[in-house]
Amino acid sequence: MKKFLLGTNWKMNKTLAQGLAYSEALMAIIGKYAQFEFFIIPPYTHLWKMKEALAAQKSPLKLGAQNMHEQDFGQFTGEISPLMLAEIGVDIIELGHSERRQYFNETDEAVNKKALAALKHGFTPLICIGEQQADKDYGVSPEMLAKQLKIALTDVPATAIGQFWIAYEPVWAIGVGGTPAATPYVEEIHNFLRQVLIDRYGPSGQAVPLLFGGSVNINNASDYARLDNVDGLFIGRSAWEPDLFEAIMAAVGAVVK
Ligand code: 13P
Repeated sequence: MKKFLLGTNWKMNKTLAQGLAYSEALMAIIGKYAQFEFFIIPPYTHLWKMKEALAAQKSPLKLGAQNMHEQDFGQFTGEISPLMLAEIGVDIIELGHSERRQYFNETDEAVNKKALAALKHGFTPLICIGEQQADKDYGVSPEMLAKQLKIALTDVPATAIGQFWIAYEPVWAIGVGGTPAATPYVEEIHNFLRQVLIDRYGPSGQAVPLLFGGSVNINNASDYARLDNVDGLFIGRSAWEPDLFEAIMAAVGAVVK
């Protein structure tokens, strides 16, 4: 059986020293929770050293990058290529996070190109989608999310969809100003996303992990984790300290066996 996914996106937080201290602490904790697959997505500058630290302890903790350019090399100042990330041994490439869409003008089409490149290089593409508050207010969240998902997965064949992870992260729920989503709403949207994947990929769509993210915290994590089509949680602030993350593991561990 697939393990429930639990991971954290550090965004632009933590120095390398802080990141290494965190990963040491986390490696010591996660052995107690065999039902979860854990991942950390730190800033690029931390990846080499963190990979070394994880490898030294043969840790099952997976490592991801927060973005990636779709070309292997070229005249793209400031960008990081798939070859560079493959050389480090990164497992996951997070793509299309709402902060990348909002502050760096990342489009669905760009996410698709990067997703195909990530696939080609054997990474797990972690595609983030999420509707704006206005979409929700107008009652068009499903349409917006289906559009994001379908464009991101353009030209991804059924034989490859099993390599993907999809994170639903409503923009209005993310970050300091975010409002945690009501559990029935998360249930409705995850059921809808599952159907979109099944319509497109048949039984292979059933197996794609759907993670939820956006103000996941100790009070709501187990409610979300109980839902049929929630296969993982993607956490920001509430997992940035190992002890807080462990409290969430314990809470979710009570409902995910
Ligand atoms: P918060 O949990 O801080 O809302 O962030 C979630 C997130 O953006 C994960 O990618």
